[in-house]
Amino acid sequence: MCGIVGYIGNREATPILLEGLKRLEYRGYDSSGISTLVDRSFKMSKQTGRVADLVRLASKDRVSGTLGICHTRWATHGGVTKENSHPHISFDGKISLVHNGVIENYLSIKKFLESTGVEFQSETDTEVFCNLIAYHYAKEDESSPTRFLDSVRRTLKHIEGTYGIAVICADCPNELVGARKGSPLIVGIGEDELLLASDVSAIISRTTNVVYLNDGELVSLKDGKVNLTTWDDQERTPDIQQINWDIEESELGDYPHYMLKEIFEQPEAVTNSMRGRFSDDRSSAKFGGLNISPQELRQIDRILFCACGTAWHACLVGEYLIERYARIPVEVEYASEFRYRNAPLDKNTLVIVLSQSGETIDTLAALSEAKRKGFRTLAINNSVGSTIAREADGGIYQHAGPEVGVASTKAFTSQLTILSMLALYLGRLRDLSYQEGIEYVDALEKLPNLIGETLKINDAVLKVAEKYKDMQDCLFLGRQDMFPIALEGALKLKEISYIHAEGYPAAEMKHGPIALICKECPVIVLATQPDIHGKLVSNIQEVKARGAPIIAVACESTPLPDDLVDDQIIIPDCHRSILPVLASIPMQLLSYHIANLRGCDVDKPRNLAKSVTVE
Ligand code: AGP
Repeated sequence: MCGIVGYIGNREATPILLEGLKRLEYRGYDSSGISTLVDRSFKMSKQTGRVADLVRLASKDRVSGTLGICHTRWATHGGVTKENSHPHISFDGKISLVHNGVIENYLSIKKFLESTGVEFQSETDTEVFCNLIAYHYAKEDESSPTRFLDSVRRTLKHIEGTYGIAVICADCPNELVGARKGSPLIVGIGEDELLLASDVSAIISRTTNVVYLNDGELVSLKDGKVNLTTWDDQERTPDIQQINWDIEESELGDYPHYMLKEIFEQPEAVTNSMRGRFSDDRSSAKFGGLNISPQELRQIDRILFCACGTAWHACLVGEYLIERYARIPVEVEYASEFRYRNAPLDKNTLVIVLSQSGETIDTLAALSEAKRKGFRTLAINNSVGSTIAREADGGIYQHAGPEVGVASTKAFTSQLTILSMLALYLGRLRDLSYQEGIEYVDALEKLPNLIGETLKINDAVLKVAEKYKDMQDCLFLGRQDMFPIALEGALKLKEISYIHAEGYPAAEMKHGPIALICKECPVIVLATQPDIHGKLVSNIQEVKARGAPIIAVACESTPLPDDLVDDQIIIPDCHRSILPVLASIPMQLLSYHIANLRGCDVDKPRNLAKSVTVE
């Protein structure tokens, strides 16, 4: 969750580190800090609050030097205080370290170090890590040129838990060390400089050449060289990969918030998700990286989706789409539950994990568990080279472009688009006719324009948001494939506006949540499907009879009578395979405007982080 950047080169490290850190702030933003090495002692600034405050502090503290590390924190062990923020410096002033992850056995190590006289300044597991390196460093042979690296290696043998770390040593002005287990870490190879980061976005303005560390690897960046080894000191030749991100894609431009920018980028994002992925006869989809043949796919008799949060909602839509168009039974599991639940699975099950970041620890663990059991696995994710992408047997990249806003928007609709294409592909391998395939592809090709049309509701949604911005509770109702969209609408509203919201299947409301209905609890109804229109009208009547204000989302050709609803947002008519994408847009805009009108920090909501890399 936390963001890490390290720098070693010929230039002043501080501005480079802080620029990288700003781009990582979406990973966590409780507190931040930087340390550099000057004349064999550390210069450090750290504080609670945002990176913008750290920039001012580091300039006031005159943090300088050409070697340094920095960190933006999402608290796990210990409250949000200056003492608990990273970097940490060891008891003897020799080691400075930043860390992303959780050390599970930190208490026993802390006890041991205390018995040797070490005094701790913070409540964190990270300070324990830092002091253990210093402890081993003091014991290593002083004349060894690999003394620092060896002390890190020795420490890792005693550490249980997850980590991505960047470490510097007061005696080693030419060396930056990193290691990973369960938390991402990459090396950036720039011109006369090397960088370490937990995420490509931190270094993209300096280089597009990167090396991904694998779990159990350490890296020493020294004298312009990248020395990659495993815990047991086996060397690995760095495999340099080229990142094809455009830096402008992750800039805010004229938008006030990343979330709004990303909502408006959706026509382009889904275009990129679909590019080159239709069959030559335009009756099906095709995917390059599945690593599973059509013959093998025909043997699959069940699909299990695993994901977290918004990606889990996308899986629920995938269930409707695949069962409807491909007639393959689908199950959807929370990745965090699947990893510890010994669910009996049929041998012909295909396990598909979804993750925007490709680094969510629970999704990664679910993937590993499925692989361990011998299932074929696929990953749908938006981050080229991410851990999940590399671990899965095959996959589909979303190509939606970097998503910075913590509340996922374009990554979600891009996942829905890919799932719709997957339903088409699997359907065409089975019983979906050529003609149905042609109509399906035609619908998908129209999707970017239809999203553009739908985005024209922005002003109308703003008016609705102004009317309801002070509500304390809100219900989102939908049926069938609109139920996951209701869940997603409620999640969006909760996470950025802090309004209590629930998503429910519209007819299920009678079995409990109807007790919540009152005039202070607006109800948002996704009344978009013509085939169940009458049923949805009945559900709305039930709510209306109990006095709740009703905001309906309906399609052009099936609007609801004005006297039935208080407010109505109209989206274009479309093929059922893409309806979930269009219906998501009013949900996104409504939560964005409400949060903004309430003065909430839309892109960095409290307590959240973009990528959840701890359990
Ligand atoms: C989305 O708005 C959320 N912030 C969150 O639920 C997110 O979708 C979840 O943490 C999964 O992330 P991933 O797609 O990167 O795995």
